[in-house]
Amino acid sequence: MPAKPSRRDRRRRGTTADRRPRPAPPIAPGRIVRPAPAGHVTARQEDNIETPAVALEGERETAAVEPRAPRTRADAIAGPRRGATLSARALGAQREERIRRATVKDLRVVAVAASGSHAELRSVPARATWVLPDGLGAEEAACVPVPFATAHDCLHEFGGVAPGETVLIQGATGGLGIACVQLAKAAGATVIGTSSSEEKLDRLQEYGLDHGVTTGGDPVSAVRELTNGRGVDLVVDPVGGETLQQSLQVLAYRGRALTVGNASRGEATLDISALMSGNRTLRGVYLAAEQGANFARVEALIAGLLERVARGELRVLVDRRFPLSEAQAAHAYAESRRALGRVLLIP
Ligand SMILES: NC(=O)c1ccc[n+]([C@@H]2O[C@H](COP(=O)([O-])OP(=O)(O)OC[C@H]3O[C@@H](n4cnc5c(N)ncnc54)[C@H](OP(=O)(O)O)[C@@H]3O)[C@@H](O)[C@H]2O)c1
Repeated sequence: MPAKPSRRDRRRRGTTADRRPRPAPPIAPGRIVRPAPAGHVTARQEDNIETPAVALEGERETAAVEPRAPRTRADAIAGPRRGATLSARALGAQREERIRRATVKDLRVVAVAASGSHAELRSVPARATWVLPDGLGAEEAACVPVPFATAHDCLHEFGGVAPGETVLIQGATGGLGIACVQLAKAAGATVIGTSSSEEKLDRLQEYGLDHGVTTGGDPVSAVRELTNGRGVDLVVDPVGGETLQQSLQVLAYRGRALTVGNASRGEATLDISALMSGNRTLRGVYLAAEQGANFARVEALIAGLLERVARGELRVLVDRRFPLSEAQAAHAYAESRRALGRVLLIP
């Protein structure tokens, strides 16, 4: 007879009861409870779903953001850590003040968390929220923090893009890709993007794409041709698998490649010989890790990007909206690769 699982094992594996619908989370100090999120779905990746800002309901709490706050993103997901105090500096004095003054009634926020978006009510730590600038709708806001902050970090913090450089965005038609295209163009780069669909690439011209390369043929040769054999200075690669090898193959001398995702779910066996011979670099980028290590920087970055979208400097591209009750259809649509940009779930 198999040994009875210990309490620790049961905790680790989870039980059937864990998978039953859970009651709405309680309102607690330091947490903001808001009506259901619309989340965007990323092909085959539930844990990449974001939730948008919505007006908070009721007036029971005045943006209770003072008490304890989590120190890391992992804590943010699990809830506030006992004894971890939120300093005004960590939160950002300006933001804290805005939140402190706002009443729940008029506070509109966007939240970032690893899970929990497929629900009508959600409790999130105040630290994981950003107050929406005037003029920015909840749906647009939902699409900003993760894709745009990751794209910005890829191009600037980790990619070091410079005006006049040539940047290749793999998966240019996805949420992250479209943000990269716009930010690379704004940085003064020549922007090349890849997709399986020529039609989708054509539509990206108005977002700043200079050249589209379809992945069905020989993308490496196509990129080399477009750069007169020189290659590109920077590649942002959220597609992974075999595409990552191609990303290394198109690098110019001293070129930088960033691996930032694996939308293809492919396995990568890399030949890295070209790195040393051309003083080239392959580097990883993960926003959540950066948020944990340098929270204040990422918080300010996201606030700034929300402002830029509100001003119309950067644009969110929403392909389709689905009601939350049709979440399955939303996922199927996202996985069909017909979407250009985001797919939203609306509660
Ligand atoms: N590291 C980080 O911090 C971070 C942050 C955000 C996102 N990500 C990752 O980045 C990746 C893309 O995110 P996203 O939000 O842009 O996703 P998305 O909106 O679903 O876009 C996926 C993109 O990948 C392309 N693609 C190529 N091969 C694919 C395949 N076999 N299956 C599905 N898509 C394929 C699609 O191009 P087509 O036009 O050819 O369909 C599309 O442009 C994901 O893996 C995500 O987890 C990482």
